[in-house]
Order: sequence, then structure tokens, then C-alpha cells
Amino acid sequence: MLGLGTLRRVTRELRQDVAAARERDPAARTLGGSDILLTYGGVHALLTHRVAHGLYEAGLPLVPHVLSGAARVVTGVEIHPAARIGESLFIDHGTGVVIGETAEIGDNVTLYQGVTLGGTGFHRGKRHPTVESDVVVGSGAKLLGPIRVGRASKVGANSVVIHDVPANSTVVGNPGHPVRIDGRRTDPDADWAHLPDPVADAIKALAARVAELEGLLAEATGRRLEPRAEVRPMRRARGPSPAGG
Ligand SMILES: CC(C)(COP(=O)(O)OP(=O)(O)OC[C@H]1O[C@@H](n2cnc3c(N)ncnc32)[C@H](O)[C@@H]1OP(=O)(O)O)[C@@H](O)C(=O)NCCC(=O)NCCS
Repeated sequence: MLGLGTLRRVTRELRQDVAAARERDPAARTLGGSDILLTYGGVHALLTHRVAHGLYEAGLPLVPHVLSGAARVVTGVEIHPAARIGESLFIDHGTGVVIGETAEIGDNVTLYQGVTLGGTGFHRGKRHPTVESDVVVGSGAKLLGPIRVGRASKVGANSVVIHDVPANSTVVGNPGHPVRIDGRRTDPDADWAHLPDPVADAIKALAARVAELEGLLAEATGRRLEPRAEVRPMRRARGPSPAGG
């Protein structure tokens, strides 16, 4: 039930959340706890969630959802009251963060703006990610489905992660794939930057076929059509990636 114990827990968690902001945001180093408490949207969203989650666990209807909705309007961060969040989460900048109902977050996790811990469909049950302790999720990253992001991993900005992530690894891209595990580059044969371009290949095959038919037509009628522009794959099949990856 809701009582003094819950209040004490929420207060302790809030103090840790403020300390996390001071430690992990270089711009916050000169700010006091009350400055952070007053001005950090991510901290406001977390504070509201800590209260809403306590009320949700106590079985109170509606109010936790109203609190979560109000926090979304004010901070742009939407956290379902049922989501389980460990100690010292830091949501930097905040806006656009969505944390789904069955998401679980360990301790000392950092989320930047625009991160989604979402589901992939309409089924019920566990459908959101589990993010283990000490993970950093870059801005705009989407973590989808009941996947597990291993301890101390990093998810690159704008990655779309739909598979489990090993501990101590760096995952980037869409689909997200590990580029570092335990500080070492992953298998160089896994050349994710130069994937084949099946749409361009199909169009190229069609263009070749049309050219062949035009040739036959020209032979039959003696009329030759002007050649059109050559079809090229949008991405180079070899050489350095323009994204630098
Ligand atoms: C992924 C990240 C955490 C760096 O982790 P790291 O373990 O130090 O990884 P590295 O910098 O060594 O990069 C590993 C590889 O991934 C590539 N990479 C890094 N971040 C990437 C990203 N977001 N998308 C695609 N590729 C990325 C690097 O170019 C490098 O490629 P290489 O192996 O071919 O050289 C960092 O790049 C990142 O995205 N941080 C998020 C920061 C953020 O959101 N800031 C918002 C502040 S408002």
C-alpha cells in the first residue's frame, strides 16, 4: 500500500536522479540540485513517473495515467506508469522520449532525446525492451520489442534496434548491429555499411531487358530509339561509406 515507505523511496530515487543529471550532463556541473530540479524536463518527467508508478503499484485507478499524461504535455516525455525504472536514470533534454508499459530499465541508464522503448505490434504481455544497467541510448534511437540490451552497452544515435544487444557492446545503424563488443571491432566480414541494394538491382535488370527489347524492335522496324539515362545503384557496392561507417 501507499505509505511512508513509498514516500521515502520516491524521495531517495529523486535525489539520485538529480545527482545523475549533475554527473552526466557536462552543462550541469555548475548547477545546484534545486536548479536541476526546477529546470530539467527529464527530471520532471522522472519525478512524476516515480509518483505515478508508486500509485499504480498501490492499485489506484486513473490517477497514475493522468499524471503520466500531464508529464507528457509539460515535458514531451511519455512514460507509462507501469514501466519499471531503476535508480539514477538520466533523460537528457527529454523531449520525444517514449517508454512503454512493459519496459524495464536498470540502474545508471542514460537516455537522450527522442528515444523510444516501444513495442512492435498490438499483442499484449511483455512487448517492450529491457535495458540493463549502465546503458547509454543515443538521441533518436528506437528500441523495439521485448529485446534485452546488455549491461554497459551503447546504442548509437538514430539506431533502430530489434534484436538483443550483448553486454559491453556498441550498436549502431538500422537495423542496429554491434560494431564493438568488449571494445573490439566485430567481424570485419560483416560489412554492414555496404549492403546490396535489391531495388536498384531489380530496376537495373528491367532496364537491361527493355534495352534488349528495344534492340530487337530496332532490328525488326529499322527504327532506333534514343538511349535513356543509365540506372545506377543508389549506394556504392564497394569503397568507403559516405556515412563514414
Ligand atoms: C555510438 C556512440 C555511443 C559511440 O560509441 P563508441 O563505442 O565510442 O563507438 P565509436 O565512436 O568507436 O564508433 C564505432 C563505430 O560506429 C560508428 N558510429 C558511431 N555512432 C554512430 C551512429 N550514431 N550511427 C551510425 N554509426 C555510428 C563509428 O563511425 C564507428 O565506425 P567504424 O568502426 O567504422 O570506425 C556515439 O557515436 C553515439 O551515437 N552517441 C549518442 C550521443 C547522443 O545521442 N548525443 C546527443 C546529445 S544532445
